[in-house]
This record gives sequence, C-alpha cells and structure tokens, in this order.
Amino acid sequence: MSEPGLNSRENWGSRLGVILAVSGSAVGLGNFLRFPVQAAANGGGAFMIPYFLAFLLLGIPLAWVEWTIGRYGGHHGHGSAPGIYHILTGRKKWAKYLGVTALLGPITIFFYYCYIEGWTLAYAIFSLTGKFNGITNPEQMTGFLAGFQGVESNSFFSSIWSAYTAFLFVFLINFYFIYRGVTKGIEKLNKIALPIMFVIGITLLIRVMTLDPHPDHPGQNFLNGLGFMWNPDFSILKDASVWLAAAGQMFFTLSVGMGSIMAYASYLRAKDDVALSSLTANSTNEFFEVVLAGTIVIPATFIFFGAMGTQAVAQGGSFNLGFITMPLIFNQMGGGAFIGFLWFLLLFTAGVTSSVSLIQPMVAFLEDELKWDRKQSVLVIGAVGFCVTNFIIFTLAKGSMDELDFWAGTLFPVFNAFLAVALFAWFFGIKKGFRELDKGADLKVPRFFKFVITFVTPTALLAILVTWSIQQGIPVLTLANVPPENRVVVWITRLILLAVLIVIVTAIIAARRRGRFSLTEEEIR
Ligand code: ALA
Repeated sequence: MSEPGLNSRENWGSRLGVILAVSGSAVGLGNFLRFPVQAAANGGGAFMIPYFLAFLLLGIPLAWVEWTIGRYGGHHGHGSAPGIYHILTGRKKWAKYLGVTALLGPITIFFYYCYIEGWTLAYAIFSLTGKFNGITNPEQMTGFLAGFQGVESNSFFSSIWSAYTAFLFVFLINFYFIYRGVTKGIEKLNKIALPIMFVIGITLLIRVMTLDPHPDHPGQNFLNGLGFMWNPDFSILKDASVWLAAAGQMFFTLSVGMGSIMAYASYLRAKDDVALSSLTANSTNEFFEVVLAGTIVIPATFIFFGAMGTQAVAQGGSFNLGFITMPLIFNQMGGGAFIGFLWFLLLFTAGVTSSVSLIQPMVAFLEDELKWDRKQSVLVIGAVGFCVTNFIIFTLAKGSMDELDFWAGTLFPVFNAFLAVALFAWFFGIKKGFRELDKGADLKVPRFFKFVITFVTPTALLAILVTWSIQQGIPVLTLANVPPENRVVVWITRLILLAVLIVIVTAIIAARRRGRFSLTEEEIR
C-alpha cells in the first residue's frame, strides 16, 4: 500500500509486520549454528561479557542508525545505501559510491547462504525419511555430508543431485517472496515464519530439557550441559580474538552492516516509530539466540558426547555442528527422527526469512535508482545469482564459499557499518540525526547514545577493521592459508566479486546520468 502524496514506493502493512520482518532477517543460521559454537569455543559464560558489550555499543546503536537513515532515505525515494548516503551528506558527489559494498555484501552472502539453506531443507527430509538413520559415528556422517555436497561419491550419494534440487527449490521460493513485494511477500512470509520458529524452538527446548542423562555417564546431563555452555572462563578475555569473535557474531546475527535493515526501514512511513521497533527486533533476535539456541544446542551435544566431545565440536565449526553432530544426536535420541526434522525445519525457516532480506537491498536499488519494475529486477538478480551460486556449488571443496564469506560476511559488514555511522553522526549531524530518530518514536533513546554513536561505535569499528586487516587481511590477500591446488578457484572467486562490484558502480553512474540523484524532493514525490 502506498501512502498518498508520497513517492510510489510500497509501505509496510503494519508495525508488527516490519518488526517481524527485521527480526526474521536477524534470526537465521547465525543464531542456531554460529552462536553456540562461538560461545562454547570462546570462554562459555565469559564470552557473554564482550558479547553484551558488543550488543550495547555496536548492535543496538547501529540498528538505530540503520532504521533511522533507512526511513529517511525511503521518504526521499531511496532504499539502498548509494541513494541514502547521497542524501545524508547533503548530496555530496562521492557519497553514493561509498554505498557499493552495502549492495555487494548482502547479495553476495545470499549467493552462498541460499545453498546452505537448501542443505537444511534436504536434511529435514532426510530426518523424516531416515536417510542417515543408521549412522552412529562422526566419520560416516562426515562422509554422508561430503557425498551429499558432491565433494565425493560414496555409498550414500552417487551425485550432487539431491543438494542441487534443494538449492533450486530454495532459490525459487526466495525470489517468489521477493517478487510478491514488501507487504504481500516479505511481510506475509515473516508473519507466518516467526510464530512457527517460536513454536519449534520451544518444542526443541523442552525436548532437550527432558533428555535423560547419558546411560554410561550420569554426569552428562542437561544441567551440566548448561554449565559447560555458560560457566565463565574469565582468563580467556585477555585474548583479543575473543572480543573480535563477539563483535563478528553481533554483526552477523543482527544483520547490521548488511544493507537489509536500511532497505526494510525505507518502506516505513515518515512518522512510523523506529526507536522501539528496532529494539524489539533486536531483543527478539537475542531471545532466539541466547535463550533458545544457547539452551538447546550445546547442552544436547554435552549429554551425548561429554565435555571432550563438545569441545571438539565447538572447535570444528558451525557446519560440523549443524550437519554432522546434530544428526548424530538425533540418531541416538528417542523420537529423534521427528525432532531432527523440526530442527532442520527451524534452520530452513530461519534461513529463508534472512535470505530474502539479503536480496531486498539490490531490488530496492534497481527499482529506486534505475526505475526497473520488480519483474525486471527479480529476473536480472535471479539470472546473475543463479550463475554465481552454481559456481559456488561446483567449487565448494576448493574454497569459493569461504572466500566470499570472508569478504561479504566478515569484512564488508564492519566496513559498511562504519560508513553508515560515520555519515550519520559526522555528516548528517548527531543532533539532526537524533531529531530524525525521535520522530514518531515510542521510546526516547537515552541521550547518552549520542556520545556512543558519535565516538564509541565508530572508534570500536575502526579498531576492529584495523585489527582484522592485520590479523586476517594480509594472510587472506596473500592466500597464505589456501592450498596451492585451490588458488585458481579463489582467484576466479575474487574476479567474480570484482565483476559484480564494477557492474554496481556502472549502474550508479547510469542512475546519476539519468539525474536520479539530483531530483528535488517534490520531483521524487
Ligand atoms: N542475521 C542472519 C543470520 O543470523 C544473517 O543468519
């Protein structure tokens, strides 16, 4: 529904709708696979200190900034970073080009995220049909996953076909929701998906809480599992990497620095609240992450594998946890086939609500700046996405996904967040910024956050960028950790990323030539 008298952009149908949509963007695979591994591997309860500091000083302020500038941009006809940065700086010529990585980042994450989403759907079906039923050891389950991914041919799979079919299905439904638009597609999806995720999450929580202790090791019980997850090891806080891990988790889980919140907020009406809505969406995400995922995953692993085993799982990373350890747990659990189905359905649902939000910034850009209609936008993004994701699927074992995840999932969000907060606080001006944030607000944001947003958040982001560049950037750029046989694929991956970046810059230039960035507010309306 458009608001009469304003530009022809869509508006959310209800306040609940936009809160659920932003919550759906945030609650994703990061909550259920990435968070438990990060917490368990980085000091358990002690991890929550840098985690909550990152929530308070990075997550909450950045979300407020993105909601505010998104709504402001949308009211001026722009729903993606190039246009939003342009008007934030009072139409400075260079500002629109700073928005390139906030378009490139989310769409690149989508390219690989949708493939993993396909795995979750396939594993939900495998759970129900008992395909990995008889497997009891990690080596065999690793073989099962490798066969499924087409990385090796074995007794479980002779081709990549089932993973590919799941990918095709997931890819199509993502674009289906995007094609339906903001209210009929994204809002409707999230209004159905979030309650489903809540019910499944609570069901899984109850199942894990009622698990019997391990028959041979009674100490391996739910309460000790919680202890394993949450008992603090404060000595680990001396290690800078723990602080970086907490900040990285905060970006990924809240979807800040990804352009998605800005795009979603651009469909708000001028006086719609952003202050309380943003905080509500963030809190919803934390409920799913800390309360649900934090209580389900590691305690369940502890009951079946004990302290040593869980430590090994935490070191093994998110994919191992999701697609090797969890299926092994379900195989040993009463009612495991159905519980496994619910777990993977939860991952799938959380994945879809996140991945559609990764496409929307690019759709908003094409619609707002190039004046393409939705069909044209969906077809072009779909065609490019299909080619890139196919490349990822068939070069998975050669490191293409890891390479894209480093740039788009790790580096760009911090960079984008720095740009957004710096432009908001230093160019738009913190006073004007807070006046904008306060418009229609149902919550008065404490003025203390003026100081945080002007100084603390940008400084922390710069510190993260510099530390990461030194610690990871140099080894990544020089391919120090890439085996020689994978280097060609990694270089091709980089060239693809560069090609998409050049296309985006060219599109911004085309939009500028058509005068899209120099329209007056009256012309936009
Ligand atoms: N915020 C999304 C997630 O956690 C991207 O998966």
